[in-house]
Amino acid sequence: MNYNKKSIEDIEVAGKRVLCRCDFNVPTKAGKITSDKRIVAALPTIKYLIEHDAKVILCSHMGKPKGEWKPELSLKIVADRLSELLGKEVIMAADVAGEDAQAKAAALNNGDVMLLENTRYIKGETKNDPELSKALASMADIFVNDAFGTAHRAHSSTAGVADYLPAVSGYLVQKEVSIMGKALANPERPFVAILGGAKVADKLNVINNLLEKVDTLIIGGGMAYTFAAAMGHTVGKSLLDESKIDYCKEMMAKAEAKGVKLLLPVDCVVGNFPSPIDGPVDVKTVPVSAIPDDLEGLDIGEETRAIFADAVKNAKTVVWNGPMGVFENPTLAKGTIAMAQALADSDAITIVGGGDSAAACEQLGFAEHITHISTGGGASLEFLEGLELPGIACLQDK
Ligand code: 3PG
Repeated sequence: MNYNKKSIEDIEVAGKRVLCRCDFNVPTKAGKITSDKRIVAALPTIKYLIEHDAKVILCSHMGKPKGEWKPELSLKIVADRLSELLGKEVIMAADVAGEDAQAKAAALNNGDVMLLENTRYIKGETKNDPELSKALASMADIFVNDAFGTAHRAHSSTAGVADYLPAVSGYLVQKEVSIMGKALANPERPFVAILGGAKVADKLNVINNLLEKVDTLIIGGGMAYTFAAAMGHTVGKSLLDESKIDYCKEMMAKAEAKGVKLLLPVDCVVGNFPSPIDGPVDVKTVPVSAIPDDLEGLDIGEETRAIFADAVKNAKTVVWNGPMGVFENPTLAKGTIAMAQALADSDAITIVGGGDSAAACEQLGFAEHITHISTGGGASLEFLEGLELPGIACLQDK
């Protein structure tokens, strides 16, 4: 994708009311934020707007309240954390685009920051309802989208509002799209992609699109067992999507026709799925061609780890999306750790798509050695599929 969208630097924001869509959909536990990564990632744009005398109106969704005012999904905790990070007051609106929000937006001074309530408290949000888009737009002069993590949603606050206001990107959207866009469009080679995660079905189009671009495609995680079945192996109790076996065969043929090296596991760690997920588990390592009928493949084996790490070692660009096994369990995290370690040790441009692989890199302490960890889960996956994201398509071209 050629990134040619206007950014906040291409528009005069001083004295203007700027509605800035962020992705503040942060994980919480017992009413506390467990990772403020997405809030921190939005700071450069918010600080720019403050320093350039804009009247800043932030908005985001949190969770899936589906039009209900669920107090546990209020953005108040985000306002509190943001206020700490900015060292200034963040005015909290009591509604999304209702009377309170409208009055507070009208009373803002240059450099003030306010946050609207959870946009998904309004049913129209996920339907991209023009009435909500108009109500949001009526509070502002400019729309800035900095919510990369939600850019794959065509919702009122992510895309619809751009029908009524000049719309530009924030720094986070710009950074995510230019780093991942360059890797896909014009990668330094060898270009290696690593895909994992549970289901082949989630990554069909990603596999297909990446086979057009990469030199080596590595497939691990639960999805590798459908490929193993496509090669004629029995896979015991491992995750298997029988309806996708032919698709896997097609992808193997496509890789061969294109001269793409397709690396699949040669051995795996098998056992019974642990319950609880991080509980004790008895395991052994077997060749992928010899998975016992009563056991499940839960991680890639040692030989596979070495083969995959070796492919990463010679790469100049590496994109990784999806864990290699049940990484939540220390016994079954070795494959995912080996991939995170291989990326961390590499001099290549290393990009980790959001979701589980990003969480794994962060939890395992490798984050600072990775070139870019995306703040988007679904959004980064759709990006790797080569899809146009509505939250970006709606922004003004340069
Ligand atoms: C995410 O967490 O991936 C984004 O915030 C989008 O959330 P959603 O999947 O609920 O639309």
